[in-house]
Amino acid sequence: MDRVRNPFAPGAGNQPPELAGRQAILDRADYTLARAEAGRHAKSFMLIGLRGVGKTVLLNRILNMAQDRKFRALLVEAHEDKALPELLLPSLRQILLGLDQIGRLNETVKRGLRVLKSFATSIKVKYGELEIGLGIEPELGVGDSGDLESDLPEVFAAIGEAAKARASVVVLLIDELQYLEENELSALIMGMHKISQRQLPLVLVGAGLPQLVGNMGRSKSYAERLFEFPMVGALSPSDAAVAIIEPVRNEGERIAKSAVDLMIETSQGYPYFIQTWGYEAWNAAAKSPISKRDVESCEAAVLKNLDESFFRVRFDRLTASEKRYLRAMAELGAGPHRSGDIADVLDVKVQSVAPTRNSLIRKGMIYSPAHGDTAFTGPLFDQFLRRQMPRLDPK
Ligand SMILES: Nc1ncnc2c1ncn2[C@@H]1O[C@H](COP(=O)(O)OP(=O)(O)O)[C@@H](O)[C@H]1O
Ligand SMILES: [Mg+2]
Repeated sequence: MDRVRNPFAPGAGNQPPELAGRQAILDRADYTLARAEAGRHAKSFMLIGLRGVGKTVLLNRILNMAQDRKFRALLVEAHEDKALPELLLPSLRQILLGLDQIGRLNETVKRGLRVLKSFATSIKVKYGELEIGLGIEPELGVGDSGDLESDLPEVFAAIGEAAKARASVVVLLIDELQYLEENELSALIMGMHKISQRQLPLVLVGAGLPQLVGNMGRSKSYAERLFEFPMVGALSPSDAAVAIIEPVRNEGERIAKSAVDLMIETSQGYPYFIQTWGYEAWNAAAKSPISKRDVESCEAAVLKNLDESFFRVRFDRLTASEKRYLRAMAELGAGPHRSGDIADVLDVKVQSVAPTRNSLIRKGMIYSPAHGDTAFTGPLFDQFLRRQMPRLDPK
């Protein structure tokens, strides 16, 4: 069928043609923002889920919701090789400048800018010049100790006060939070603790892989009370059907029920896979309705597409022993697996591969769903590994 009109949108962060099965999360976000606007305590939350379930898409939707309410909102993505201050400073600066421009001169907003300036000055040595500009003088002694865990809360508080002074709300959205270092995560949690104690209008909406929950709890035990952790998972069969059928129908085309059922089965309801199957099946079909045979005929194209765009993304950067560890996991199936069983497949002691396992967790490839258990952070990753590395080579 006409490729130009293909509605499906496989790819990290791509807005899907139909956002199926996420109303509960959107409602939660709406209610959190509404409470913040009303000056009520609004509990920040972290979207938790595997790769490809639609966390980034949801963060972008929530960003739009905040902007529709005329809030000051910004979305950033954490990286393994970027420090939190570097990541946040440009956004915080933009938020404060926005608050500054809303109305007449306001001393609380100006103070916010001065605190940010002193924070930027204190971390200059570590991260280089981070321009705040505007000839603002730093607020000496606030947010400039050089210790992130005491400075970031000062900065957050100053921004929260500035937002309150403008009767506005600040929404900070941070993706891939599992990549923050422990002290950064701790600083972020302490910052939100301060905001919550003072009931300031600043909301944090994060997203991350399942290890984020444990990382936060280890960082600060009260994190579990400070935040909600809504899970984002695979779509139910009925939601998956909506995700497939609606985009086709909106283009004035049709798809056979048997084709939809097969796509639900092969994708296991995972949004990234649904988009990819939908996309390839549309292209494979000569005419409407898309048939079960069309879906069957595009399997090779789907796997190629997924291997290149989804599975391989971070895989290529792994070391040989890390790849080998993953491959041993795949030998056992989809998982989760006992660490001892994985070590048995590799014919080594558990302790000797513990560093490899830890670095794979840090790199976001695997996580520990329960003590001693190990699971992939990407659904169907075991199948990819068996395609990539048909045999587990002896060392
Ligand atoms: N609710 C949904 N229904 C259908 N497709 C979705 C849904 N959420 C996300 N997608 C699709 O899934 C893919 C992955 O989304 P993304 O937000 O990048 O996932 P994550 O950030 O969790 O890895 C994208 O192609 C997106 O269009
Ligand atoms: Mg994402």
